[in-house]
Amino acid sequence: MSCLVVIGVQWGDEGKGKIVDILAHQSDMVVRYQGGNNAGHTVVVGGEPFFLHLIPSGILHPNKKNIIGNGVVLDPKIFLEEIEALKKRGFLKDDSELIVSESAHVIMPYHRRIDVARENKKDGLKIGTTGRGIGPAYGDKITRRGIRVLDLLDKDKFRRKLAPILEEQNFFLTQFFKEEPLDLDQMVDEYFIYGQRLKKYVGDTSLLVYEGIEKDKKILFEGAQGVLLDIDHGTYPFVTSSNTVAGAVCTGAGVSPLKIKGILGISKAYTTRVGTGPFPTELTDEIGDKIQKVGHEFGTTTGRRRRCGWIDLVSLQYAIRTSGITSLAVMKLDVLSELSEIKLCVGYQWKGQKLSSYPVDSEKLSECEPIYETVPGWKENLTSIRDFKDLPVATQKYIHLIEERLKTPIDVISVGPDREQTITRHNPFSF
Ligand code: GDP
Ligand code: IMO
Ligand code: MG
Repeated sequence: MSCLVVIGVQWGDEGKGKIVDILAHQSDMVVRYQGGNNAGHTVVVGGEPFFLHLIPSGILHPNKKNIIGNGVVLDPKIFLEEIEALKKRGFLKDDSELIVSESAHVIMPYHRRIDVARENKKDGLKIGTTGRGIGPAYGDKITRRGIRVLDLLDKDKFRRKLAPILEEQNFFLTQFFKEEPLDLDQMVDEYFIYGQRLKKYVGDTSLLVYEGIEKDKKILFEGAQGVLLDIDHGTYPFVTSSNTVAGAVCTGAGVSPLKIKGILGISKAYTTRVGTGPFPTELTDEIGDKIQKVGHEFGTTTGRRRRCGWIDLVSLQYAIRTSGITSLAVMKLDVLSELSEIKLCVGYQWKGQKLSSYPVDSEKLSECEPIYETVPGWKENLTSIRDFKDLPVATQKYIHLIEERLKTPIDVISVGPDREQTITRHNPFSF
């Protein structure tokens, strides 16, 4: 039984795509199980970048099964565009390498419109969403007004299902947001065509994963976003609309928790966040600007500038607890070179009192003052180092300190965006 889950343990963009790509090499299946095209995973192969939003980052390796599970919300237009782009670059030669769940929910045009309209409302709550319709699509799933992939395959059934839903959505769009209504016929025609193009990729993904497990295949589950964006355990309401903790694999792919063998948490050597919401270790000074510049911290999906700050061991400890992280990968260590000193947040102070656990209340979290431990930085460029013992002593000490404080081994260290720029201390797949 070889099921490994890879998840982000911060606010997303930790470098999950790079690690999934590397581990996909030794996997038989790569499975996405939550989120949608709010995700943006960059994989760099031989200096060439690939941007993936929906399709698992295993697609750059031939002969792997890439699965989009039921827990994903799928924008069919984006999905088909991503397929075309990959095919143009010589990937996905065999269509049977990609399978999407028939019960994945579909992001419809009204979801995108409502997502953007909500964000633009002057007196509304600004979350800084990606505007991809994620929240409204998950909302409709939960209130049982969703359209699923299988609904797109039969035109009459699709129309019958969509008509009353669109009536309600149009009421909301026109009456509340004062926007133009959407046309039923046009939507049925457009989305039925997507359904026809999608058909060959549709399957029973939970069964496929189960069969893979029965045959003792190596299965890699690729998380999107990060634990602190989890709908239940993240900095609500400044979160995404799915569960991003490791447990989401079970519902989002239809897998028993007893089958999961390891959970690899991906963290940057510092912290970033896109969108609004509390961020105790955020740096609004020249050090934050330097990390942002050196780390090219711009979102893959929306191009927005990412907020930057020091590593936060309190929130990482929380992520480790809520997801049962078995080991970590620390990314972008190269970005911290040339800083005279580096800080690690080892506790929070709130109204003069030291907190013993991570606060669930976002307002309280925004009032927390980080308690820092400061260590010396290093000057050396790390990008061509491939062995832990070749890292500067100060860098090794930084890694050891994180490991010690989090009581979790760091299996992988990343020193650059390329596949090759990786130090593997222990293979996360050898359980
Ligand atoms: P994901 O959403 O977790 O897959 O992460 P993103 O791809 O959105 O963001 C991570 C960014 O950092 C991408 O541009 C990667 O190419 C880049 N990256 C990953 N690892 C490293 C690293 O070790 N060093 C540097 N400098 N860049 C990295
Ligand atoms: P990957 O998989 C970073 C953030 C958005 C916003 C909040 C809600 O690349 O790590 P949404 O559109 O999901 O309703 O937006 O969540 N967000 C991400 N931030 N990386 C991501 O994905 C994200 N997906 C959503 O910026 O703050
Ligand atoms: Mg990303």
